[in-house]
Amino acid sequence: MTRRELIDILSIPHTDTSAIEDLKHRAHEVMEREVGTEVYYRGIIEFSNICTLDCHYCGIRRSNTRVTDRYTLSKQEIIDTALWCAESGYGSLVLQSGERRDPAFISFVEDLIRTIRQESVSQRLPDGLGITLGIGEQEEETYQRLAESGAHRYLLRIETTNEALFRRIHPPSQTLTDRISCLKSLRKTGYQVGTGVMIGLPGQSIDMLADDILFFRDMDVDMIGMGPYIVHEDSPMAHRGMMEKESLMQLSLNMIAAVRLALPDVNIASTTALQALYPDGRERGLTYGANVTMPNLTPQSVRKGYQLYQGKPCVEESKTECRGCLRGRIASIGRTVGFDAWGDSPHALRRTRARHDSLSRTVSF
Ligand code: 5AD
Ligand code: FES
Repeated sequence: MTRRELIDILSIPHTDTSAIEDLKHRAHEVMEREVGTEVYYRGIIEFSNICTLDCHYCGIRRSNTRVTDRYTLSKQEIIDTALWCAESGYGSLVLQSGERRDPAFISFVEDLIRTIRQESVSQRLPDGLGITLGIGEQEEETYQRLAESGAHRYLLRIETTNEALFRRIHPPSQTLTDRISCLKSLRKTGYQVGTGVMIGLPGQSIDMLADDILFFRDMDVDMIGMGPYIVHEDSPMAHRGMMEKESLMQLSLNMIAAVRLALPDVNIASTTALQALYPDGRERGLTYGANVTMPNLTPQSVRKGYQLYQGKPCVEESKTECRGCLRGRIASIGRTVGFDAWGDSPHALRRTRARHDSLSRTVSF
């Protein structure tokens, strides 16, 4: 895929039904061939909304004093939820939170990972739950420690690869350079690495989004999670508004399809933010080449406290309601769920295998 081809795909308007059908068809074909048609679940626990950062777009930013219920779930609550995840057949778990770098927090996460890996071992999951972390920018040694505890995937969105835009949506203490070096550390430390961007940010162009995709490819990432930018009323970006709903939805879907065509064998998530725009948003993402979705496992009592953007779905529901709801949604598009599996992307598996091969060659020489 050239930059020009990516731009053409991203520019398809929601009114051009024949171009849309053609795009969906191409994306589905590549998905089927490269990663299969199963949808993999990653149960997500948003275990703390305490955040030391102040990203201008985010509802749980440090200086949003209207979030009065700052919480961190207890170890027991998190473990119980993780075991429910394993028993429900979701082979993989995402631990996500606001960003903290203090030693107490890191030790807490380290302990969580070890305990979850141990306690979730069963006949169905001989290696326990797969664990993905999403706890932001950390020191390389921290990434290393957390990997040694048993986390094997990490999500860190780049948000945008355009330097000027990145600067506009973050405080000066956060830089694109730091974010990129974290992604490199994650790779070096041996994680399967996921990244992504927000789509439709004020000041973002189609060209920038095409460059984002080329960045994903150059960084050789294993997983992509992207979603529409949705305004949060208490954020400093609120006055800049957001894209009109229908065009934003189509642009987000076009991004998913373009990523599938440009990085054929990676895992692509159909994210919750799509469902904030339209009730069937996540299913639609899956029909444009996405193969992963993240059922929300956060206890109902604290869900209200984790609203990164307005209109987040599932806030009033429980994890059991989401389980039933998603089952119907996936069945409605004729897809099946890959239960009891980590569901690593073929891209990651190929890379790991290539590394093993080269290591064993070194040994035999
Ligand atoms: N709209 C959409 N996505 C958002 N995120 C944070 N705030 C918003 C928003 N207002 C996304 C960011 C972050 C992820 C956890 O949530 O991309 O990396
Ligand atoms: Fe949560 Fe539908 S997925 S209510």
